[in-house]
Amino acid sequence: MICLIGFMGCGKTTIGKILSEALNEKWIDLDDYIEKKAGKRISEIFKEEGEAYFRALEQECLKQLLQEEKGIISTGGGVIISPENVKMLQKTCTIYLAYPFDILYSRIAGDANRPLATSYKELQERFYKRLDLYEQASQVKIDCKDKSINQITQEILTYLEKIS
Ligand code: S3P
Repeated sequence: MICLIGFMGCGKTTIGKILSEALNEKWIDLDDYIEKKAGKRISEIFKEEGEAYFRALEQECLKQLLQEEKGIISTGGGVIISPENVKMLQKTCTIYLAYPFDILYSRIAGDANRPLATSYKELQERFYKRLDLYEQASQVKIDCKDKSINQITQEILTYLEKIS
């Protein structure tokens, strides 16, 4: 399985869909999968059950999806918080889509569907706390700043060809 990781707003969903077409492989969005399992939106899970419940569900769903042979998973930005998840990601092909914080912030600020898209300061703290974990969990880091979606996809495809 190919897993895309990175902070909120880095394009995991967009790039995941494009990769799935280019590689002719199934695409799964981890957040969508969680919503289907829970029967409610991520924002509702956070509001009604809390973040810890969401994280447990996230871990269970990731584990299930990683049992499949082939496909592309677009994860949620916080998937690397769990050391268990980091271990699982290290064992598969995990690609980190990296951007500087300010670009991500401008993309996610005020997004009501993202319960953790809070204030600039809070998000910035969350971002810096996670940076190391994205690096640890991934086999490759794609520096996305100033690159088009096409360029990013090409870079990933070249990497995948190299390791195949
Ligand atoms: C989260 C990111 C979200 C979603 C949830 C928590 C996070 O996914 O999983 O709101 O902790 O960064 P996106 O990265 O797709 O926004």
